[in-house]
Amino acid sequence: MNVYDSERIGELMSRSGYEVVDSADQADLVIVNTCAIRDKAEQKLYSLLGRLAPLKQQNPDMILAVGGCVAQQEGAAMLVRVRCLDLVFGTDALNRLPSLVDRIALKKTRIVDVGPRASGQDHQHFGGLISGGSVSRFVTIMRGCDNYCTYCVVPFVRGRETSRQPEQIISEIKMLVSAGAREVTLLGQNVNSYGDKEGLVSFPDLLARVNKVSGLERIRFTTSHPKDLSEELMVAFGRLEKLCRHIHLPVQSGSDKILHRMNRKYTRAHFAERVARLRADYPDIAITSDIIVGFPGETESDFDMTLDLIRGIRFDSLFAFKYSDRPNAAAAQFTDKIPAKEKSRRLNALLDLQQQITLEKNKTLIGTKQVILVEGFSKISATKEVQWSGRTSTNKIVNFRDDRAQSPHANDLTGRLITVVIKKGFFHSLLGTPVTKAPIHVRWKGVPSRAA
Ligand code: 5AD
Ligand code: SF4
Repeated sequence: MNVYDSERIGELMSRSGYEVVDSADQADLVIVNTCAIRDKAEQKLYSLLGRLAPLKQQNPDMILAVGGCVAQQEGAAMLVRVRCLDLVFGTDALNRLPSLVDRIALKKTRIVDVGPRASGQDHQHFGGLISGGSVSRFVTIMRGCDNYCTYCVVPFVRGRETSRQPEQIISEIKMLVSAGAREVTLLGQNVNSYGDKEGLVSFPDLLARVNKVSGLERIRFTTSHPKDLSEELMVAFGRLEKLCRHIHLPVQSGSDKILHRMNRKYTRAHFAERVARLRADYPDIAITSDIIVGFPGETESDFDMTLDLIRGIRFDSLFAFKYSDRPNAAAAQFTDKIPAKEKSRRLNALLDLQQQITLEKNKTLIGTKQVILVEGFSKISATKEVQWSGRTSTNKIVNFRDDRAQSPHANDLTGRLITVVIKKGFFHSLLGTPVTKAPIHVRWKGVPSRAA
Protein backbone atom coordinates (compact mmCIF):
# COMPACT_ATOMS: atom_id res chain seq x y z
CA MET A 1 0.00 0.00 0.00
CA ASN A 2 2.77 2.39 0.95
CA VAL A 3 4.92 1.64 -2.08
CA TYR A 4 1.89 2.47 -4.16
CA ASP A 5 1.30 5.78 -2.36
CA SER A 6 5.01 6.65 -2.60
CA GLU A 7 4.89 6.05 -6.37
CA ARG A 8 1.88 8.35 -6.61
CA ILE A 9 3.63 11.03 -4.56
CA GLY A 10 6.61 10.83 -6.92
CA GLU A 11 4.40 11.08 -9.97
CA LEU A 12 2.37 13.99 -8.62
CA MET A 13 5.45 15.98 -7.74
CA SER A 14 7.21 15.25 -11.01
CA ARG A 15 4.11 16.59 -12.77
CA SER A 16 4.62 19.78 -10.79
CA GLY A 17 8.16 20.14 -12.07
CA TYR A 18 10.13 18.37 -9.33
CA GLU A 19 12.85 15.86 -10.15
CA VAL A 20 14.00 12.94 -8.03
CA VAL A 21 17.53 13.35 -6.63
CA ASP A 22 19.83 10.73 -5.13
CA SER A 23 19.99 11.94 -1.55
CA ALA A 24 18.13 14.20 0.87
CA ASP A 25 21.01 16.71 1.12
CA GLN A 26 20.55 17.62 -2.56
CA ALA A 27 16.77 18.07 -2.23
CA ASP A 28 14.57 21.17 -2.02
CA LEU A 29 11.68 19.01 -0.94
CA VAL A 30 11.88 15.91 1.26
CA ILE A 31 8.72 13.83 1.66
CA VAL A 32 8.62 10.99 4.17
CA ASN A 33 5.80 8.52 3.63
CA THR A 34 4.76 6.60 6.75
CA CYS A 35 3.07 3.46 7.96
CA ALA A 36 1.32 3.20 11.32
CA ILE A 37 0.63 -0.52 11.36
CA ARG A 38 3.23 -1.31 14.04
CA ASP A 39 4.90 1.00 16.53
CA LYS A 40 8.40 0.15 15.23
CA ALA A 41 7.70 1.99 11.98
CA GLU A 42 6.61 5.02 13.96
CA GLN A 43 9.76 5.02 16.09
CA LYS A 44 11.86 4.83 12.93
CA LEU A 45 10.08 7.89 11.54
CA TYR A 46 11.01 10.10 14.48
CA SER A 47 14.65 9.06 14.36
CA LEU A 48 14.73 9.74 10.59
CA LEU A 49 13.25 13.21 11.16
CA GLY A 50 15.94 13.82 13.78
CA ARG A 51 18.59 13.01 11.16
CA LEU A 52 16.95 15.29 8.58
CA ALA A 53 16.73 18.31 10.91
CA PRO A 54 20.36 19.50 10.30
CA LEU A 55 19.70 19.60 6.52
CA LYS A 56 16.93 22.04 7.13
CA GLN A 57 19.35 24.25 9.09
CA GLN A 58 21.80 24.20 6.15
CA ASN A 59 19.06 24.96 3.63
CA PRO A 60 16.19 26.89 5.29
CA ASP A 61 14.22 26.89 1.99
CA MET A 62 14.06 23.12 1.98
CA ILE A 63 10.52 21.87 2.57
CA LEU A 64 10.15 18.85 4.85
CA ALA A 65 6.86 16.94 4.65
CA VAL A 66 5.44 13.82 6.30
CA GLY A 67 2.52 11.93 4.74
CA GLY A 68 0.72 8.62 5.19
CA CYS A 69 -0.89 6.88 8.13
CA VAL A 70 1.23 8.28 10.96
CA ALA A 71 0.61 11.79 9.61
CA GLN A 72 -3.11 11.03 9.46
CA GLN A 73 -3.08 9.75 13.02
CA GLU A 74 -0.93 12.47 14.61
CA GLY A 75 -2.01 15.53 12.60
CA ALA A 76 -1.12 18.87 14.20
CA ALA A 77 0.58 17.14 17.14
CA MET A 78 3.37 16.16 14.79
CA LEU A 79 4.05 19.78 13.78
CA VAL A 80 4.32 20.64 17.47
CA ARG A 81 6.61 17.72 18.22
CA VAL A 82 8.89 18.12 15.17
CA ARG A 83 9.81 21.77 14.88
CA CYS A 84 11.59 21.53 11.53
CA LEU A 85 8.53 20.04 9.81
CA ASP A 86 6.64 22.18 7.23
CA LEU A 87 3.83 19.90 6.15
CA VAL A 88 1.80 17.03 7.60
CA PHE A 89 -0.56 15.50 5.03
CA GLY A 90 -2.92 12.60 5.62
CA THR A 91 -3.80 9.62 3.47
CA ASP A 92 -6.68 11.44 1.73
CA ALA A 93 -4.76 14.66 1.07
CA LEU A 94 -2.46 13.12 -1.53
CA ASN A 95 -4.02 14.76 -4.55
CA ARG A 96 -3.71 18.16 -2.87
CA LEU A 97 0.01 17.68 -2.23
CA PRO A 98 1.35 19.84 -5.11
CA SER A 99 -0.80 22.82 -4.12
CA LEU A 100 0.10 22.39 -0.43
CA VAL A 101 3.80 22.42 -1.32
CA ASP A 102 3.29 25.51 -3.53
CA ARG A 103 1.55 27.35 -0.68
CA ILE A 104 4.38 26.56 1.72
CA ALA A 105 7.04 27.69 -0.79
CA LEU A 106 5.23 30.97 -1.48
CA LYS A 107 3.92 31.90 1.95
CA LYS A 108 6.60 30.29 4.16
CA THR A 109 3.88 28.77 6.28
CA ARG A 110 3.41 25.39 7.99
CA ILE A 111 0.38 23.29 7.07
CA VAL A 112 -1.55 20.30 8.43
CA ASP A 113 -4.00 18.66 6.02
CA VAL A 114 -5.58 15.48 7.35
CA GLY A 115 -8.99 16.22 5.84
CA PRO A 116 -11.08 13.90 3.66
CA ARG A 117 -10.58 13.39 -0.05
CA ALA A 118 -12.45 15.94 -2.20
CA SER A 119 -15.56 14.27 -3.61
CA GLY A 120 -15.14 12.78 -7.07
CA GLN A 121 -11.39 12.53 -6.68
CA ASP A 122 -10.03 9.14 -7.51
CA HIS A 123 -6.59 7.93 -6.66
CA GLN A 124 -5.14 7.49 -10.09
CA HIS A 125 -1.67 6.73 -11.33
CA PHE A 126 -0.66 8.81 -14.29
CA GLY A 127 1.38 6.06 -15.85
CA GLY A 128 5.02 6.16 -16.72
CA LEU A 129 5.92 9.67 -15.66
CA ILE A 130 8.76 8.82 -13.36
CA SER A 131 8.75 5.12 -13.07
CA GLY A 132 7.89 4.09 -16.63
CA GLY A 133 9.75 0.92 -17.39
CA SER A 134 9.05 -0.73 -14.05
CA VAL A 135 7.83 -4.21 -14.87
CA SER A 136 5.74 -4.81 -11.76
CA ARG A 137 3.34 -2.17 -10.46
CA PHE A 138 0.78 -1.84 -7.68
CA VAL A 139 -2.83 -0.81 -8.17
CA THR A 140 -5.08 0.02 -5.25
CA ILE A 141 -8.55 -1.42 -5.76
CA MET A 142 -9.98 -0.55 -2.36
CA ARG A 143 -9.12 1.47 0.69
CA GLY A 144 -9.90 1.21 4.39
CA CYS A 145 -11.21 -1.76 6.33
CA ASP A 146 -14.37 -2.63 8.28
CA ASN A 147 -13.04 -5.68 10.08
CA TYR A 148 -11.75 -4.21 13.32
CA CYS A 149 -9.26 -6.89 14.26
CA THR A 150 -8.51 -5.95 17.85
CA TYR A 151 -4.78 -5.31 17.28
CA CYS A 152 -5.18 -3.22 14.15
CA VAL A 153 -5.02 0.52 13.55
CA VAL A 154 -6.07 0.42 9.88
CA PRO A 155 -9.82 1.03 10.34
CA PHE A 156 -8.94 4.12 12.42
CA VAL A 157 -6.39 5.66 10.07
CA ARG A 158 -7.62 4.50 6.67
CA GLY A 159 -11.32 4.65 7.51
CA ARG A 160 -14.24 2.54 6.28
CA GLU A 161 -13.85 0.19 3.39
CA THR A 162 -14.46 1.72 -0.05
CA SER A 163 -13.88 0.13 -3.44
CA ARG A 164 -12.84 1.83 -6.65
CA GLN A 165 -14.94 1.49 -9.78
CA PRO A 166 -13.77 -1.40 -11.99
CA GLU A 167 -13.58 0.90 -15.04
CA GLN A 168 -11.09 3.17 -13.26
CA ILE A 169 -9.01 0.20 -12.19
CA ILE A 170 -8.91 -1.23 -15.71
CA SER A 171 -8.00 2.09 -17.30
CA GLU A 172 -5.21 2.59 -14.77
CA ILE A 173 -3.86 -0.88 -15.52
CA LYS A 174 -3.96 -0.18 -19.26
CA MET A 175 -1.99 3.00 -18.67
CA LEU A 176 0.60 1.17 -16.59
CA VAL A 177 0.94 -1.51 -19.26
CA SER A 178 1.47 1.11 -21.95
CA ALA A 179 4.21 2.56 -19.74
CA GLY A 180 6.00 -0.80 -19.58
CA ALA A 181 4.32 -2.80 -16.79
CA ARG A 182 3.91 -6.54 -17.36
CA GLU A 183 2.57 -7.44 -13.93
CA VAL A 184 0.17 -5.74 -11.56
CA THR A 185 -0.55 -6.44 -7.90
CA LEU A 186 -4.08 -5.46 -6.89
CA LEU A 187 -4.08 -4.00 -3.40
CA GLY A 188 -6.67 -3.88 -0.67
CA GLN A 189 -6.86 -4.77 3.03
CA ASN A 190 -9.38 -7.49 2.25
CA VAL A 191 -9.70 -7.94 -1.50
CA ASN A 192 -12.30 -10.71 -1.06
CA SER A 193 -14.90 -8.15 -0.08
CA TYR A 194 -14.15 -5.91 -3.08
CA GLY A 195 -17.27 -4.15 -4.32
CA ASP A 196 -19.62 -5.73 -1.75
CA LYS A 197 -20.79 -2.46 -0.20
CA GLU A 198 -21.01 -0.55 -3.46
CA GLY A 199 -22.71 -3.38 -5.35
CA LEU A 200 -19.88 -3.50 -7.89
CA VAL A 201 -18.63 -6.64 -9.61
CA SER A 202 -17.18 -9.33 -7.33
CA PHE A 203 -13.43 -9.66 -6.86
CA PRO A 204 -13.16 -12.78 -9.05
CA ASP A 205 -15.12 -10.90 -11.77
CA LEU A 206 -12.71 -7.98 -11.46
CA LEU A 207 -9.81 -10.41 -11.85
CA ALA A 208 -11.45 -11.82 -14.99
CA ARG A 209 -11.61 -8.30 -16.44
CA VAL A 210 -8.00 -7.57 -15.57
CA ASN A 211 -7.04 -10.89 -17.15
CA LYS A 212 -8.27 -9.53 -20.50
CA VAL A 213 -5.93 -6.52 -20.55
CA SER A 214 -3.62 -7.14 -23.47
CA GLY A 215 0.10 -6.76 -22.91
CA LEU A 216 -0.35 -7.65 -19.24
CA GLU A 217 1.28 -10.98 -18.39
CA ARG A 218 0.70 -11.51 -14.70
CA ILE A 219 -1.79 -10.59 -11.98
CA ARG A 220 -1.20 -10.76 -8.24
CA PHE A 221 -3.30 -9.54 -5.35
CA THR A 222 -2.99 -8.96 -1.65
CA THR A 223 -4.40 -9.29 1.00
CA SER A 224 -7.01 -12.00 1.41
CA HIS A 225 -8.81 -12.42 4.71
CA PRO A 226 -9.11 -16.16 5.47
CA LYS A 227 -12.73 -15.74 6.65
CA ASP A 228 -13.77 -14.47 3.20
CA LEU A 229 -11.74 -16.70 0.87
CA SER A 230 -14.54 -17.75 -1.47
CA GLU A 231 -15.06 -20.79 -3.67
CA GLU A 232 -15.30 -18.43 -6.65
CA LEU A 233 -11.84 -16.99 -5.94
CA MET A 234 -10.31 -20.44 -5.59
CA VAL A 235 -11.78 -21.40 -8.96
CA ALA A 236 -10.27 -18.25 -10.52
CA PHE A 237 -6.75 -19.66 -10.05
CA GLY A 238 -7.64 -22.40 -12.51
CA ARG A 239 -9.58 -20.23 -14.96
CA LEU A 240 -7.41 -17.16 -15.35
CA GLU A 241 -4.09 -17.90 -16.98
CA LYS A 242 -2.51 -14.61 -15.88
CA LEU A 243 -3.35 -15.07 -12.21
CA CYS A 244 -0.18 -16.04 -10.37
CA ARG A 245 -0.09 -19.21 -8.25
CA HIS A 246 0.42 -17.45 -4.96
CA ILE A 247 -1.88 -16.36 -2.19
CA HIS A 248 -1.01 -14.32 0.88
CA LEU A 249 -3.36 -15.49 3.60
CA PRO A 250 -2.55 -13.98 7.01
CA VAL A 251 -3.44 -16.47 9.74
CA GLN A 252 -2.04 -14.38 12.67
CA SER A 253 -2.21 -17.23 15.22
CA GLY A 254 -2.67 -21.00 15.50
CA SER A 255 -4.73 -20.78 18.70
CA ASP A 256 -8.52 -20.49 18.47
CA LYS A 257 -8.61 -18.61 21.76
CA ILE A 258 -6.22 -15.96 20.42
CA LEU A 259 -7.95 -15.82 17.02
CA HIS A 260 -11.21 -15.11 18.87
CA ARG A 261 -9.59 -12.37 20.98
CA MET A 262 -8.14 -10.91 17.78
CA ASN A 263 -11.68 -10.81 16.31
CA ARG A 264 -10.50 -12.69 13.24
CA LYS A 265 -13.82 -14.57 12.84
CA TYR A 266 -12.34 -17.89 11.67
CA THR A 267 -10.89 -20.92 13.42
CA ARG A 268 -7.65 -22.77 12.94
CA ALA A 269 -9.65 -25.68 11.43
CA HIS A 270 -11.31 -23.37 8.90
CA PHE A 271 -7.94 -21.96 7.88
CA ALA A 272 -6.42 -25.44 7.49
CA GLU A 273 -9.41 -26.57 5.43
CA ARG A 274 -9.07 -23.60 3.01
CA VAL A 275 -5.36 -24.29 2.58
CA ALA A 276 -6.01 -28.00 1.97
CA ARG A 277 -8.62 -27.12 -0.67
CA LEU A 278 -6.27 -24.74 -2.45
CA ARG A 279 -3.48 -27.30 -2.47
CA ALA A 280 -5.75 -30.12 -3.63
CA ASP A 281 -6.77 -28.06 -6.67
CA TYR A 282 -3.39 -26.38 -7.34
CA PRO A 283 -0.55 -28.46 -5.90
CA ASP A 284 2.03 -25.88 -6.97
CA ILE A 285 0.35 -22.89 -5.30
CA ALA A 286 2.53 -20.91 -2.87
CA ILE A 287 0.89 -19.89 0.38
CA THR A 288 2.41 -17.17 2.55
CA SER A 289 1.11 -15.65 5.76
CA ASP A 290 1.47 -13.13 8.59
CA ILE A 291 1.76 -14.06 12.26
CA ILE A 292 1.67 -11.92 15.38
CA VAL A 293 3.54 -13.30 18.38
CA GLY A 294 2.91 -12.22 21.96
CA PHE A 295 -0.66 -11.01 21.50
CA PRO A 296 -2.09 -10.14 24.95
CA GLY A 297 -2.99 -13.34 26.80
CA GLU A 298 -0.97 -15.61 24.47
CA THR A 299 0.24 -18.43 26.74
CA GLU A 300 3.10 -20.78 26.02
CA SER A 301 0.58 -23.38 24.89
CA ASP A 302 -1.15 -20.87 22.55
CA PHE A 303 2.23 -20.13 21.04
CA ASP A 304 2.96 -23.86 20.69
CA MET A 305 -0.27 -24.17 18.72
CA THR A 306 1.05 -21.51 16.32
CA LEU A 307 4.33 -23.41 15.89
CA ASP A 308 2.33 -26.58 15.37
CA LEU A 309 0.20 -24.91 12.70
CA ILE A 310 3.33 -23.70 10.92
CA ARG A 311 4.81 -27.22 11.00
CA GLY A 312 1.56 -28.62 9.62
CA ILE A 313 0.87 -26.07 6.88
CA ARG A 314 4.47 -25.44 5.83
CA PHE A 315 4.03 -21.94 4.42
CA ASP A 316 6.35 -20.89 1.60
CA SER A 317 7.31 -17.89 3.66
CA LEU A 318 6.04 -15.91 6.62
CA PHE A 319 6.07 -12.36 7.90
CA ALA A 320 6.14 -12.44 11.68
CA PHE A 321 5.72 -9.53 14.07
CA LYS A 322 5.86 -8.89 17.77
CA TYR A 323 2.53 -7.56 18.96
CA SER A 324 2.53 -3.82 19.66
CA ASP A 325 -0.25 -1.60 21.05
CA ARG A 326 -1.76 0.74 18.48
CA PRO A 327 -3.86 3.82 19.23
CA ASN A 328 -7.62 3.11 19.36
CA ALA A 329 -7.20 -0.60 18.65
CA ALA A 330 -9.18 -2.61 21.24
CA ALA A 331 -6.28 -4.86 22.29
CA ALA A 332 -4.38 -1.82 23.57
CA GLN A 333 -6.82 -1.97 26.53
CA PHE A 334 -6.24 -5.69 27.21
CA THR A 335 -4.42 -6.11 30.49
CA ASP A 336 -2.58 -9.42 30.05
CA LYS A 337 0.35 -8.09 28.01
CA ILE A 338 3.38 -10.28 27.22
CA PRO A 339 6.81 -8.99 28.32
CA ALA A 340 9.05 -7.69 25.51
CA LYS A 341 11.74 -10.30 26.17
CA GLU A 342 9.27 -13.13 25.85
CA LYS A 343 7.88 -11.69 22.60
CA SER A 344 11.41 -11.61 21.19
CA ARG A 345 12.03 -15.20 22.25
CA ARG A 346 8.83 -16.37 20.56
CA LEU A 347 9.59 -14.39 17.41
CA ASN A 348 13.05 -15.93 17.12
CA ALA A 349 11.76 -19.46 17.71
CA LEU A 350 9.15 -18.95 15.02
CA LEU A 351 11.57 -17.43 12.52
CA ASP A 352 14.04 -20.29 13.07
CA LEU A 353 11.35 -22.83 12.33
CA GLN A 354 10.15 -20.99 9.23
CA GLN A 355 13.66 -20.49 7.92
CA GLN A 356 14.16 -24.24 7.93
CA ILE A 357 10.84 -24.80 6.12
CA THR A 358 11.44 -22.09 3.50
CA LEU A 359 14.90 -23.44 2.77
CA GLU A 360 13.64 -27.03 2.47
CA LYS A 361 10.84 -25.91 0.16
CA ASN A 362 13.19 -23.89 -2.03
CA LYS A 363 15.55 -26.85 -2.33
CA THR A 364 12.74 -29.12 -3.54
CA LEU A 365 12.50 -26.85 -6.60
CA ILE A 366 16.00 -27.80 -7.75
CA GLY A 367 15.74 -29.43 -11.17
CA THR A 368 12.28 -27.99 -11.95
CA LYS A 369 11.53 -25.64 -14.84
CA GLN A 370 10.11 -22.26 -13.88
CA VAL A 371 8.87 -19.38 -15.99
CA ILE A 372 10.09 -16.14 -14.52
CA LEU A 373 9.23 -12.55 -15.30
CA VAL A 374 12.52 -10.66 -15.41
CA GLU A 375 12.39 -7.50 -13.28
CA GLY A 376 15.93 -6.26 -13.90
CA PHE A 377 19.55 -7.13 -13.53
CA SER A 378 20.68 -7.86 -10.03
CA LYS A 379 24.42 -7.56 -10.42
CA ILE A 380 27.40 -7.73 -12.73
CA SER A 381 30.01 -10.12 -11.38
CA ALA A 382 33.78 -9.55 -11.32
CA THR A 383 34.01 -11.59 -14.52
CA LYS A 384 31.52 -9.16 -16.10
CA GLU A 385 28.76 -11.75 -16.20
CA VAL A 386 25.34 -10.18 -16.07
CA GLN A 387 23.00 -11.64 -13.48
CA TRP A 388 19.29 -11.10 -13.97
CA SER A 389 16.56 -11.28 -11.40
CA GLY A 390 12.90 -12.14 -11.69
CA ARG A 391 10.07 -13.96 -9.97
CA THR A 392 8.25 -17.21 -10.50
CA SER A 393 4.48 -17.24 -10.65
CA THR A 394 4.72 -18.45 -7.03
CA ASN A 395 6.55 -15.21 -6.15
CA LYS A 396 9.99 -16.70 -5.54
CA ILE A 397 12.99 -14.65 -6.58
CA VAL A 398 15.19 -16.34 -9.18
CA ASN A 399 18.58 -15.06 -10.29
CA PHE A 400 20.20 -16.31 -13.47
CA ARG A 401 23.13 -15.44 -15.69
CA ASP A 402 22.93 -14.52 -19.32
CA ASP A 403 26.31 -15.76 -20.57
CA ARG A 404 25.87 -14.16 -23.96
CA ALA A 405 25.78 -10.57 -22.81
CA GLN A 406 28.72 -8.51 -21.62
CA SER A 407 26.54 -5.68 -20.36
CA PRO A 408 22.91 -5.54 -19.24
CA HIS A 409 22.25 -2.90 -21.88
CA ALA A 410 23.51 -5.04 -24.75
CA ASN A 411 20.77 -7.59 -24.23
CA ASP A 412 18.14 -6.27 -21.86
CA LEU A 413 15.86 -9.03 -20.65
CA THR A 414 13.77 -6.77 -18.40
CA GLY A 415 10.08 -7.51 -18.86
CA ARG A 416 10.66 -10.85 -20.58
CA LEU A 417 9.20 -14.18 -19.53
CA ILE A 418 12.11 -16.61 -19.49
CA THR A 419 12.09 -20.32 -18.69
CA VAL A 420 14.87 -21.42 -16.36
CA VAL A 421 15.89 -24.65 -14.69
CA ILE A 422 16.49 -24.23 -10.97
CA LYS A 423 20.02 -25.20 -9.93
CA LYS A 424 20.20 -24.01 -6.34
CA GLY A 425 17.79 -23.07 -3.58
CA PHE A 426 18.62 -20.58 -0.83
CA PHE A 427 16.52 -18.98 1.90
CA HIS A 428 15.72 -15.74 0.04
CA SER A 429 16.14 -16.78 -3.59
CA LEU A 430 16.79 -19.46 -6.17
CA LEU A 431 19.51 -19.72 -8.78
CA GLY A 432 18.58 -20.87 -12.28
CA THR A 433 19.89 -21.23 -15.81
CA PRO A 434 17.86 -20.35 -18.90
CA VAL A 435 16.73 -23.38 -20.90
CA THR A 436 16.70 -21.55 -24.23
CA LYS A 437 19.46 -22.62 -26.57
CA ALA A 438 19.06 -19.73 -29.01
CA PRO A 439 20.39 -16.35 -27.91
CA ILE A 440 17.73 -14.47 -26.00
CA HIS A 441 17.84 -11.30 -28.08
CA VAL A 442 15.37 -8.64 -27.20
CA ARG A 443 15.07 -4.92 -27.45
CA TRP A 444 13.59 -3.32 -24.35
CA LYS A 445 10.39 -1.31 -24.90
CA GLY A 446 9.22 -3.81 -27.50
CA VAL A 447 6.24 -5.89 -26.43
CA PRO A 448 7.79 -9.03 -24.95
CA SER A 449 6.57 -12.33 -26.29
CA ARG A 450 5.49 -15.13 -23.99
CA ALA A 451 7.92 -17.55 -22.40
CA ALA A 452 11.22 -18.00 -24.21
N1 5AD B 1 1.21 -5.51 16.27
C1 5AD B 1 1.96 -6.39 15.56
N2 5AD B 1 1.69 -6.74 14.29
C2 5AD B 1 0.64 -6.16 13.70
N3 5AD B 1 0.13 -6.29 12.46
C3 5AD B 1 -0.92 -5.47 12.35
N4 5AD B 1 -1.14 -4.80 13.50
C4 5AD B 1 -0.17 -5.21 14.36
C5 5AD B 1 0.15 -4.90 15.71
N5 5AD B 1 -0.58 -4.05 16.43
C6 5AD B 1 0.66 -7.22 11.45
C7 5AD B 1 -0.38 -8.29 11.08
C8 5AD B 1 -0.80 -7.86 9.70
C9 5AD B 1 0.48 -7.22 9.18
C10 5AD B 1 0.31 -6.33 8.01
O1 5AD B 1 0.98 -6.50 10.29
O2 5AD B 1 0.23 -9.54 11.04
O3 5AD B 1 -1.26 -8.92 8.89
FE1 SF4 C 1 -6.45 -4.66 10.05
FE2 SF4 C 1 -7.97 -6.83 10.30
FE3 SF4 C 1 -8.59 -4.94 8.49
FE4 SF4 C 1 -6.44 -6.49 8.10
S1 SF4 C 1 -8.58 -7.19 8.16
S2 SF4 C 1 -6.58 -4.25 7.86
S3 SF4 C 1 -5.73 -6.78 10.17
S4 SF4 C 1 -8.62 -4.69 10.71
